[in-house]
Amino acid sequence: MAATWSTDELLAGFGAEIIKWQVEGFGRRKIAALIQQMTDRPCSEHAVRRALVRLASQIQGSDASDRPKVKIIKEEDPFEEEPIESLIERRVEASKRKIAKAKKHHIRVELPYEPMGIMVFGDPHVDNEGCDWDALRRHVTLAAETDGVLAACVGDIQDNWIGRLARIYADSSVTAANGWRLSEWMFQQLDWIAVVGGNHDAWANGPGVDPMAWLSERTRVMCYAPDEIRVQIGWEDSREAEPVNWILRHDFGGRSWYHPTHGPHKEAMLDGRCHLLTAGHIHQWGQLTTEQRHGRVAHAIRVRGYKRNDTYARAKGFFEQNFGESALVVIDPRREGPGRISVHWDLKRGCEFLTFLRQAA
Ligand SMILES: [Fe+2]
Repeated sequence: MAATWSTDELLAGFGAEIIKWQVEGFGRRKIAALIQQMTDRPCSEHAVRRALVRLASQIQGSDASDRPKVKIIKEEDPFEEEPIESLIERRVEASKRKIAKAKKHHIRVELPYEPMGIMVFGDPHVDNEGCDWDALRRHVTLAAETDGVLAACVGDIQDNWIGRLARIYADSSVTAANGWRLSEWMFQQLDWIAVVGGNHDAWANGPGVDPMAWLSERTRVMCYAPDEIRVQIGWEDSREAEPVNWILRHDFGGRSWYHPTHGPHKEAMLDGRCHLLTAGHIHQWGQLTTEQRHGRVAHAIRVRGYKRNDTYARAKGFFEQNFGESALVVIDPRREGPGRISVHWDLKRGCEFLTFLRQAA
């Protein structure tokens, strides 16, 4: 039996015919059968396919060997890329700066060795129509008028509705501009030891711009971070006294059907260094105080915030609590054990307790 047609032989013997048959609509199998019939020599469909590919590339001009040559002179301005060593050196410096920047999330402060309080404000949402401004103003005034009280906030200072949610501004009599004025007022009234941003605050950010950071810098906020601040409170003139380690976040991951402090308490168990963990975000309040394996009494706290008659919460079926907008954390550095830190949900009573401790000191 004769050998099968090779692709080269098909191109040499039937190149023009194969193109003609394909133009007439013949498929590969039919072309192969036709050649086999005409030559009494086996021709495979595969050989026809390869011949068609070669013919197509010749037609499209990729086989430019027989085309007239055109002389092209390419003119370029000389350009040299940055040497790779220099590029890497710059990346090393940039990453060092980025790593060093994390220090802004860790602060150590020294306070007088005497009883003091931190009013931990829950999500204010100052520009929300349902922000309980009566309570918020009362609590700010109380903190301002009580000696020895510093302030902190767990974030969501404003709503900052964006995107499709911006339609909610239609239900509010607070303009976006007035929202910023209300935030500024709050930050000017008290000595804020630490403020973190919430998810709502992050919505106001643009490339390279964090308006809450800018506002913090021009008011009485000592330390602001968009997500987390770890504070170590040491004691002036009494460096041997144990510091208080505190983590302030908008939220700690982890939810429980049984208790709103599951997230911060889980962190208290894992962290091993903390005495105080404060969060907001889910608009529910609670406190879980216990002695951890590392021997420290840790207080995991979630404050409720000031949003009332929350349409979103009602739509989702969350029940609305009445208390716990903020908490007063009283620290008496002279004591040890469970009495060193006490958490007060009746803010007025807490302030009275702090005043009593300071007078007795
Ligand atoms: Fe919130």
